[in-house]
Formats: sequence, C-alpha cells, structure tokens
Amino acid sequence: MILSKIFGLLTAVTVARVCHAGLLTDTAVVANKKYDFVIVGGGTSGVIMATRITEISKHTVLLIEAGVAYEDIPVTLHAPALGVRSGSQQPWTWNYTVVPQIGMENRTFTYQMGHNLGGSSYVYGLYTRGTDQIFDKIAKISGDNGWSWKSLVPYFNKAEGFLKPPSGGEWGPNDYKLTDHGTQGPFNTQLPMYPNDLDPLVTKLVATEAEFSKWNNDLSSGKSLGIGTSQATITKAGTASNVASGYLTPAVLARKNLDIITGVRATKLTFKASKAGPVASGVQFTPSPDVNVTTVLANNEVILSAGAFNTPQLLQLSGIADKDFLKSLGIPVVLDSPNVGQNLRDHVAMPMQWEANATTTLDQLRDPTFLANQTSIWQQTGKGILTAAVANHLGFFRVHPNASIFDSQNPDPSIGSDCSHFEMLFRSFITPSPATGFFTSMGIAFTSVASVGNVLINTTDPFASPLIDPKFLTSEVDIRIGREAIKTARRAYSSPVFDGFVVKEYGPNPNAMTDPEIEEMIRHSGTTFFHALGTAQLAPFHADVKAGVVNPDLTVKGVKGLRIVDASVIPVLPDAHPLAAVLAFAERGADLVKAAWR
Ligand SMILES: Cc1cc2nc3c(=O)[nH]c(=O)nc-3n(C[C@H](O)[C@H](O)[C@H](O)COP(=O)(O)OP(=O)(O)OC[C@H]3O[C@@H](n4cnc5c(N)ncnc54)[C@H](O)[C@@H]3O)c2cc1C
Ligand SMILES: *[C@@H]1O[C@H](CO)[C@@H](O)[C@H](O)[C@H]1NC(C)=O
Ligand SMILES: *[C@@H]1O[C@H](CO)[C@@H](O)[C@H](O)[C@H]1NC(C)=O
Ligand SMILES: *[C@@H]1O[C@H](CO)[C@@H](O)[C@H](O)[C@H]1NC(C)=O
Ligand SMILES: *[C@@H]1O[C@H](CO)[C@@H](O)[C@H](O)[C@H]1NC(C)=O
Ligand SMILES: *[C@@H]1O[C@H](CO)[C@@H](O)[C@H](O)[C@H]1NC(C)=O
Ligand SMILES: *[C@@H]1O[C@H](CO)[C@@H](O)[C@H](O)[C@H]1NC(C)=O
Ligand SMILES: *[C@@H]1O[C@H](CO)[C@@H](O)[C@H](O)[C@H]1NC(C)=O
Repeated sequence: MILSKIFGLLTAVTVARVCHAGLLTDTAVVANKKYDFVIVGGGTSGVIMATRITEISKHTVLLIEAGVAYEDIPVTLHAPALGVRSGSQQPWTWNYTVVPQIGMENRTFTYQMGHNLGGSSYVYGLYTRGTDQIFDKIAKISGDNGWSWKSLVPYFNKAEGFLKPPSGGEWGPNDYKLTDHGTQGPFNTQLPMYPNDLDPLVTKLVATEAEFSKWNNDLSSGKSLGIGTSQATITKAGTASNVASGYLTPAVLARKNLDIITGVRATKLTFKASKAGPVASGVQFTPSPDVNVTTVLANNEVILSAGAFNTPQLLQLSGIADKDFLKSLGIPVVLDSPNVGQNLRDHVAMPMQWEANATTTLDQLRDPTFLANQTSIWQQTGKGILTAAVANHLGFFRVHPNASIFDSQNPDPSIGSDCSHFEMLFRSFITPSPATGFFTSMGIAFTSVASVGNVLINTTDPFASPLIDPKFLTSEVDIRIGREAIKTARRAYSSPVFDGFVVKEYGPNPNAMTDPEIEEMIRHSGTTFFHALGTAQLAPFHADVKAGVVNPDLTVKGVKGLRIVDASVIPVLPDAHPLAAVLAFAERGADLVKAAWR
C-alpha cells in the first residue's frame, strides 16, 4: 500500500479508495460462505452490478475478480495518453492471443482484455453510444422494448458523469449538447482536454469539403453520422476514467453487505438439481492452478460478468454449451445450449499513417526528457499532453454511394440507414512508431461488419486460454467496406486543408492503390479494435436455447439462479466503441436484478 510520495495527490486518492476491509485477497475468508449474489468478474459490468445491488442493504454480494487490485496498476498508467498504450503482457491485462486469422494471412495478435478490478473499462479511451437503430434492433431481436434506444437513454445517462468543458476553452456549443448526456453518473466523460494540431484543420475540412461537410454536434445523440468532437473517458483530475474508481467510492467500499476479492479466478459454476431443472448454487475459485479450489455459495443468483471471452469459457467449463462439443471434451452436460461462445462480433481496425510537418504531435513523448517533464506536470496538476485523448475528432461514415459495393451476394451489413459503415479517428500520433519523426494518423474501424466468430475452449483446464477466433475479414463485404474506408481517409488527408501539415502517406503501405493491393494491405495490417461482444446473446423469452443464451432479463435460458450481465449478451455490435453500451446494459441489468428480488 505504500507508494512513493512523488505521486502526490493523485496517488493519495487512489490508495484511499482501495484501503477498506471489504477488499479481500485471502480465499479462506470467503470459503464456504453464503452470499445472496456471487458476481464473477469485477470488470466494467461486475463493478456496476455489485455497486447497484448492494444499494439494497438486505442483499449481500461477493464480487470475484481474477486480476489485480486497482492499486497494483502503476500510477502513471492512469494518465490517459499512457494508459491506452499500456500494452500486453502485464499483470493488468489478460494477454490473450487470437487464433491464426485466415482472413488476415493467418496472423495472430494479442488481445488485451482488462485483468483488474474495473476490467476493460480501464483499457479504454473513447466514449461513443452508437446509433439509435442498433438498440431498436436489439429490442426487436429480444422482443423487449426495454433494450430500445429510448428506453436505454436513462441508463446511458445514469452511468455517465459528463464534465462540461470550461467556458473560454477550445470547445463551444457546437461541440456538445448537454441534453445528450448524463452529468451525475459515476463514469466521467468529457471533451478532449488537450488540443492538437489537427483540431483547426478538421474544422476546416468540414467547412470546405462537401464530402466531409456533415458536422455532428454531439456524437452521443443516437445519430452518429458525420464528424464531431470526440468524448473521452477522462476524469476531472485528468486521470483515465474507469468503473473501479468511478463506482467503488469509499462509501461503497465501506458497505457491510459487499465483499470484493481480487487475484482469484473462478474455475467453475456449481449446480444443484431441481424439478425445474439445474439451479446455479455457487462458484468455485482459486488463486492459482496449484491451489485447491474454494467454493462459495449463492442464495439467490450467480451473476456472470467475466466479459465476452471468459463468460463463455466459464459456461463451457461448467457444462453449459453445445452437448456434442461438451462431450468431445469429456465435460458432463448440465445444459445443451448451442449458442454459448458463438456470435462473436468485433470491429477490424486499420491504422493509417502520414508524415506530419509538425513538432508538437504526441510523438514528442518518445523523447525521455520530454516524457519525464510531462509526467511530473501531470502528476502535479493533472494536465498537459499526458491527458491527450485517443483522438479529438471522430467521423462516422457510410460508404460513398458512388462505390456501389453491395449486391445480392454481398448485402449491406449495416443495421439501418443511419448506421455507419466505418469510423475515422483523427489522431495525433502513431503506434507502433518509427524511432523518430512526427506523424499523424487516421485510425479506421470497420463499424458494420458481417464476419462472425467464436470463443471455444479446447481443454478442461480453467487456466488455459480459450481459443478466440473473431474470423476477421472472412466475409467479402467487410473487405469491400474496408477498401472504401481507406479511400475515404486518403481523400480526407489529400484535401488542400492539410497542405503544409500532412507531408506524405507513410504506412502501412502508401503504394497500395488498386483494389487488390488495398485488400492485401488490409489483410496484412488489419487488427482488432477490441470491441468483442455477443458470445452469450439475448433472445426472446418464448424462444429456446437454439435462438440464444439468455432471456431479455439476462437470466440464462434452461437453468435457474444464473444471469449474465456483460458484453457477451449484446447480440448486435454497435457501430461505435461499445463501452457506453456495456455501461447501459449493466445499469439496466442491475435494475432487473433488483426487481426480481424485491
Ligand atoms: C484494449 C481495449 C481497448 C478498448 N477501448 C475502448 C474504447 O476506447 N471505447 C470503448 O467504448 N470501448 C473500448 N473497449 C471495449 C470495452 O472496454 C469493453 O467492451 C467493455 O469494457 C467490456 O465490459 P465487460 O463487463 O463485458 O468485461 P470486462 O470489463 O473485460 O470485465 C470482465 C472482468 O472479468 C474478470 N474475469 C474474467 N474471467 C474471470 C474469472 N474466471 N474469474 C474471475 N474474474 C474473471 C476480468 O479480469 C475482468 O475484470 C476496449 C477494450 C479493450 C480490451
Ligand atoms: C503473453 O503471451 C505471449 C504470447 O503468447 C507469451 O510469449 C508471453 O510469455 C505471455 N506473457 C505473460 C506475462 O503471460
Ligand atoms: C492459412 O492457413 C490455412 C490452414 O492452415 C491454409 O490453408 C492457408 O493456405 C493459409 N493461408 C495463408 C495466406 O498462409
Ligand atoms: C487438494 O485436493 C486433493 C484432492 O481432493 C486432496 O487430496 C489434497 O489433500 C488437497 N490439498 C490440500 C492442500 O488441501
Ligand atoms: C518542464 O519543462 C519546462 C520547460 O523546460 C520547465 O519550465 C518546467 O519547470 C518543467 N516542469 C517540470 C515539472 O519538470
Ligand atoms: C461521385 O460521382 C459523381 C458523379 O459522377 C462525381 O462528380 C463525384 O466526384 C464522385 N464522388 C466521389 C467521392 O467519387
Ligand atoms: C489448445 O489450443 C492451443 C492453441 O492452439 C494449443 O497450444 C493447445 O495445445 C491446445 N490444447 C489442447 C488440449 O488441444
Ligand atoms: C512546414 O511548415 C512550415 C511552417 O509551418 C512551412 O513553412 C513549410 O513549407 C512546411 N513544409 C512542408 C513540407 O509542408
């Protein structure tokens, strides 16, 4: 607990938040105890569930997190510009690797899900809600109007603590509409704190180029097409927002009815038989493979919030999955539920880079003296370049109608006519970067995609990674959309507006010009945008397990006493960075639990 004094106030706040009796690491303390609710996974959704359920004092909750406590994350990584680059192979990430992607030249890459209290809300950056038609589609798929855009807006707002930009600063009334945000919620968002060279140029692009002239004065309104000022997940103190620091305030941590244990992995759910079918009775967990498991019991419900990879993994390990699949691994079948681990949806990302005639891009941070100086400025004031957002402007676009890329074999995968096909992030630095030089980049995400993957275990060892296969770019239409996205990004940066700033295209392949060349570049350089979801998808109450894994109230079909609340249940990938949707789903999920156990 004793961290160096040089970290000053920011550290003091961090440490105060985690020093409390309810934060446990010793499995003996909870062994064979009974809680009303046992929540597996102290990430984005699990933290929200634990916080909201324990608002009702009669409910006791244990939250089990496999990863590290908040205090174990180095303080400097709470700087927004450093956090997003925290990389893999750290104690606070899962260090997952996707299986060789046949649509990407059989490449693999790491997938840094959050392995810490706060989960992937900590490895984050941008706040986007997505297009209203996405949620209306989810309402239709699930037969529950409670998942529609209109019904979810109060839940988006409940989670969000939007900070109004300072008056007289860079941002004005065209950059946001307060009515599109929640301002009292625990999860802070705000417009970018740190201006960059691109800001005035993007404004000029919108003003002068017809193709890019649609300005969106709040990307959280439910209408996301156009270019707008981004909303970053940054607190008032200039630290990266995450649910652990946002929701788990000292008052919440002091609740007598909440215990949180970190550093232990749930290995299996236990069930007891009943006339109505299997009933989830508890959770087995252990700090490491060589320590025997401990069991904790749930009076009311086990709630799975282990995220889009680990939730299906735990279901499969526990005997809830396709029965033939389970038999092939020798796992006793508790419930034949063929969709568990299927319907993995994710966004492909393409980093495009240009050399910049500039000296003030984030590339400055590669100078150790500059970095040290900015680090101490940030530690003392919560300001400076280390508060820079991932991008200060985002654009959401449909493919240009001239392109005519959709046909009967390759139908438009977008959910509705207001949904984007791709996103462009106007960024001030590049990763990975060459050793020297100044760059600007366009992060591109393919926001409407047709490829569908899966997450399947290949062993009964709960400590082995599940096989994560997004099957990126296995659908031809995704390549077609990607090509148009790249051409659009190039058209944007070749506007005279950028003359004198954008020097020339740098990477990943400025020579890729023809459609086959651009396709090859995408297959060679595309990666994930870390937006996995859908692996335990919703289906209507009247539909059986062949249609989906959970009911609209997020209870697991075919068993009692088990609910899933995390990104896994969201059946349709928003045309956006999905954290906001996950926050809203968890807020409503908590209300559904409260209603069920009044
Ligand atoms: C690198 C990265 C960057 C991202 N950037 C953005 C962004 O800029 N904007 C945006 O909107 N979205 C972003 N996302 C997506 C967003 O963060 C996720 O969709 C969201 O946080 C998922 O929430 P969740 O509750 O489903 O899972 P998580 O928040 O991942 O929580 C799952 C938790 O369960 C724990 N757990 C897993 N298995 C077990 C087990 N067996 N026992 C105990 N605990 C377990 C994990 O350690 C983790 O803490 C990003 C994601 C990643 C990985
Ligand atoms: C992370 O994964 C890589 C690739 O699979 C492996 O080489 C490395 O040892 C892992 N690191 C940790 C800390 O698990
Ligand atoms: C990828 O792997 C598959 C299966 O192993 C193989 O058939 C295919 O030729 C490989 N593709 C490339 C581009 O290497
Ligand atoms: C662990 O479990 C095994 C099998 O049940 C048992 O033989 C062993 O004694 C246990 N070890 C400890 C340390 O409890
Ligand atoms: C950072 O550098 C500036 C300019 O060289 C200097 O004035 C300032 O004192 C430095 N700040 C810190 C905290 O090191
Ligand atoms: C689309 O087609 C029209 C008419 O042929 C042409 O004027 C315009 O430049 C095209 N736009 C793009 C972006 O290709
Ligand atoms: C599971 O898959 C991984 C990765 O492909 C592989 O290394 C491992 O040997 C497989 N395990 C089993 C039991 O098949
Ligand atoms: C770089 O910028 C300077 C001034 O900002 C300008 O004079 C110069 O022409 C620019 N160079 C290029 C290659 O655009």
